[in-house]
Amino acid sequence: MPTPEAGPAVPRAASADFLVDFPSGARTRVVVGPLSLLPELSQGLGVRAGLLCDARLVALHGPALRALQPAFGDLLARPVSEDRKQLVEVEAICEVLSARGLGRDGFVVAIGGGVLTDLAGLAAALYLRGVPWISVPSTLLAQVDAGLGGKTGANLRAGKNLVGAFHQPRVVLCDPSLLATLPGRERWSGLAEVVKCALLEPAMLDVCEALLDRAAAGEPDALAPLIEASLRHKARVVSADEREGGARAYLNLGHTVGHALETATGYERFTHGEAVALGLRGALELSRSLLSGSDHARALRLVQRLRVQPSTRLDPAERERALQALTRDKKAKDGRIRFVLLRALGAPELAYVSPADCIRALDAAVS
Ligand code: GLY
Repeated sequence: MPTPEAGPAVPRAASADFLVDFPSGARTRVVVGPLSLLPELSQGLGVRAGLLCDARLVALHGPALRALQPAFGDLLARPVSEDRKQLVEVEAICEVLSARGLGRDGFVVAIGGGVLTDLAGLAAALYLRGVPWISVPSTLLAQVDAGLGGKTGANLRAGKNLVGAFHQPRVVLCDPSLLATLPGRERWSGLAEVVKCALLEPAMLDVCEALLDRAAAGEPDALAPLIEASLRHKARVVSADEREGGARAYLNLGHTVGHALETATGYERFTHGEAVALGLRGALELSRSLLSGSDHARALRLVQRLRVQPSTRLDPAERERALQALTRDKKAKDGRIRFVLLRALGAPELAYVSPADCIRALDAAVS
């Protein structure tokens, strides 16, 4: 269970600091605060670190990253892209850790977006059969979602994240100031996951509605509370269901149609968050029509504020590919497709819906 403000003293300048305990016995310390807290937060983790970071961050945040070198050794900058999210890169990272002389008493620090933290986390799970690691997500999407929960992975030709391991980071450090250099489109993308959390956690709704536009503009004092609220929500879910046997699946709200749109457009037109924003529209339309719940209008108003930059219109071939992706979903059962729906704000349900309902969800998503 998340343990708000328990245990360690809140480091100076951290706006949030709490512990998350997992059924496996793992414990993650979650901190929203500046990168400069990293040496203090890593105390006791090991004697030698492998400090991995996305090479693009060095140009953007060079001084802050180089300031970590006295504590962690040289920056091990990695070129990162979705098409390099492969096991061969995990092997390359392990070779770098080995060359750095990391032993069983070492640990990994990963600073980057979800691709880098997923790969570095998997390398940490495998290197010497597992060393501790710290996740420092540098995009809003990774701060509010991928960073916490221990899912690590790489892609196979057949699909994304088809190989991986659960390996909980000891620390997740989210520094909102790293987000100032993100393109606005990337911030909107991360805000789709924030809005998803707010639909699942009504206590977040007022603050989300109030701060959404300022957070999209990159204002740290609007981003920090939304990051903290999303992390506290995710912490509650994953601490109760570490391996997605139950409620963790609700975090996939909006993702069924979202993944189908990403597949249909070759992962090129939409960012992940944009696809989720559209997927949320589809899931809300099905929720409204299939469940006799409430609050759908408020939920839809919030979702429609999420900016999706590219045209959402699908040509006939893309629409067909999206429908195929939906109906071939690996979680389908007897021809019915698994969706997370919302009976009401904060009340998600798993439902198996007909292909005709899938078409309705897709059309509502891109209309
Ligand atoms: N991104 C959803 C999860 O971590 O389960």
